[in-house]
Amino acid sequence: MAPAIPGTPESLAALHARCFTLPRPWSAEEFRDLLALPGSFLIAEPGGFLLGRAVADEAELLTLAVDPALRRRGAGQRLVAQFLAAAAARGAGRAFLEVAETNLAARALYARAGFSEVGRRRGYYRPETGPAVDALALARATAGKSPAI
Ligand SMILES: CC(C)(COP(=O)(O)OP(=O)(O)OC[C@H]1O[C@@H](n2cnc3c(N)ncnc32)[C@H](O)[C@@H]1OP(=O)(O)O)[C@@H](O)C(=O)NCCC(=O)NCCS
Repeated sequence: MAPAIPGTPESLAALHARCFTLPRPWSAEEFRDLLALPGSFLIAEPGGFLLGRAVADEAELLTLAVDPALRRRGAGQRLVAQFLAAAAARGAGRAFLEVAETNLAARALYARAGFSEVGRRRGYYRPETGPAVDALALARATAGKSPAI
């Protein structure tokens, strides 16, 4: 059976739980609240989704998740490219996100999509066990061709 396109807060939370330990997965209630924020938008495809937000000139990639069974087939890359296009269409000239320094898969994806490091929050993520992990702040312009496309 083909994987479903996540859309409800419950389905987003279920997929998030399969994808995240750091930061911890978000609940259906948290997704409901985020989806209700002004400027928030969801991009989804079978087995993957990206939640973004555009306010004035800035867009933020709030979270991105691809089912572990469907990785390395370009879904993450497509979702990020669509996020950049959606952000530009909403008038945001610049896109930001935060990623754990230890998340090498996501960092490779974002680097390939043209993001570069603009800041660091030391010890921002606190796992239940083990040392705190820095958050890297990444940014890029929304306009222009993404190297990921
Ligand atoms: C990060 C994530 C979204 C990538 O999704 P994906 O669909 O597998 O990504 P893609 O297939 O589009 O990969 C695009 C490129 O990113 C890089 N990349 C992706 N996963 C990688 C990995 N595990 N190791 C190294 N590079 C990786 C590669 O350059 C890849 O291109 P290639 O497959 O041609 O080598 C997915 O691994 C995921 O959901 N991780 C858990 C949640 C998460 O970390 N989200 C981001 C938090 S900010």
